[in-house]
Amino acid sequence: MERQKKLYIETYGCQMNVADTEVVFSLLGKYGYERTEDIDEADVIMANTCSVRDNAEQRIHGRIEQFNMHRRRRPGVLVGILGCMAERMKEELLESGKVDIVAGPDSYRSLPYLLQNAGPDSPQINVHLSREETYSDIEPVRIDRNGVSAFISIMRGCNNVCSYCVVPYTRGAERSRDYHSIVREACSCQEQGYKEVTLLGQNVDSYRYEGCGFADLLRLVAESCPGMRIRFSTSNPQDISDEVLEVMASHGNICRHIHLPVQSGSDRILEKMRRRYTREWYLGRVAAIRRYMPDCAISTDVIAGFCSETEEDHRATLSLFEAVGFDAAFMFYYSERPGTLAAKKYADDVPLDVKTRRLEEIIALQNRLSLESNRRDVGKRFTVLVEGPSKRNPEELCGRTGGNKMCVWPDAEHKAGDLVDVEVVDCTQATLLCKLG
Ligand code: SAH
Ligand code: SF4
Ligand code: F3S
Repeated sequence: MERQKKLYIETYGCQMNVADTEVVFSLLGKYGYERTEDIDEADVIMANTCSVRDNAEQRIHGRIEQFNMHRRRRPGVLVGILGCMAERMKEELLESGKVDIVAGPDSYRSLPYLLQNAGPDSPQINVHLSREETYSDIEPVRIDRNGVSAFISIMRGCNNVCSYCVVPYTRGAERSRDYHSIVREACSCQEQGYKEVTLLGQNVDSYRYEGCGFADLLRLVAESCPGMRIRFSTSNPQDISDEVLEVMASHGNICRHIHLPVQSGSDRILEKMRRRYTREWYLGRVAAIRRYMPDCAISTDVIAGFCSETEEDHRATLSLFEAVGFDAAFMFYYSERPGTLAAKKYADDVPLDVKTRRLEEIIALQNRLSLESNRRDVGKRFTVLVEGPSKRNPEELCGRTGGNKMCVWPDAEHKAGDLVDVEVVDCTQATLLCKLG
């Protein structure tokens, strides 16, 4: 019998890419490719890549060099680039001579064929973007090792054209997946012992399949899997509806956490970013969330130093952070992406030192807000889902609250996957320090 081939994949970028890597393992598993986490024994080395910022791409270029050392040392080893960077750079990647396969996010079904035909002098490419592909029928091979929390893609692509963002170009048009297959996948996760699923899309509120909108889907999943915690990401401020908030508020197993990327606190910048909301609208949505669920955590994404951003615009972002009091934030400085509207229309005119200084100011503010948010939790009790031993201290377990805060506590009784009641006794900016109870 032919030896099973070993497949190694490194995954970069967002949770969508994690979900896609799981699809690739499943698809190629059927063709005799076995997953390995040891690059030295891999017959095929792949990176599932991200293009969202320049430094994400630079990292991958570095990895491609490393992969080539394996390729030179062990003839026959194939190197593949998947994901958003494959889609954005296309032939350019093949022309480097360092890559045997280039496959965009909608072309993974063709990977067996591409692998079969790839060789030293015949690199293979498929970067076709589809209007239909959702990989609905594929049962992903989960790559996280704690076996507690799983990602489920509910849609692909994005129909917004935020001027800074490359995602619509790398992921194509928005399409929603059949809700029957989403519910089936969630139930199957539950049967396999998973305790939490996160429903993924670039803009989950625009999910729609045969009359079923996101609020309906959320209700359907929550009620089909009453024993599981349900999360979702990402909500777009312009689209998040009261109906979704109502469904969250009325289902105890939907986590009280909304990731609501604001990007900027200045209306002038929001308009140039082509975000279709204002500061006032955003604050209104935050107020609505807190009306329905006073205990709901809110996190965000923000970009410092977008084209033409002034100190006044920047201060508007800081004051919005202060006004909302985010529980957590992912913070970036603007990175111009080729082909986007902003790259075509606006000069990337905020100097790098100004961008980094503004970013540092936002980070310093958020660090304080995170600490304040954690201090408010001291003395409270939470049910947390155990992820496993804490990284710092093996006598402690770690796990997250519904609001997505990391807790650690001394515990010799429980294990990954248990739901445990804890009381917060102290905190750092990043962690709630707890005890059982
Ligand atoms: N669909 C999500 C965002 C996906 S990209 C949404 O609409 O919120 C994740 C985050 O990367 C974005 O929220 C944004 O903050 C950041 N980002 C996207 N393009 C960027 C760029 N060109 N420069 C810096 N950050 C960027
Ligand atoms: Fe990018 Fe905007 Fe789509 Fe998010 S909603 S993926 S930021 S274009
Ligand atoms: Fe995700 Fe990066 Fe692509 S954030 S959608 S992997 S560009």
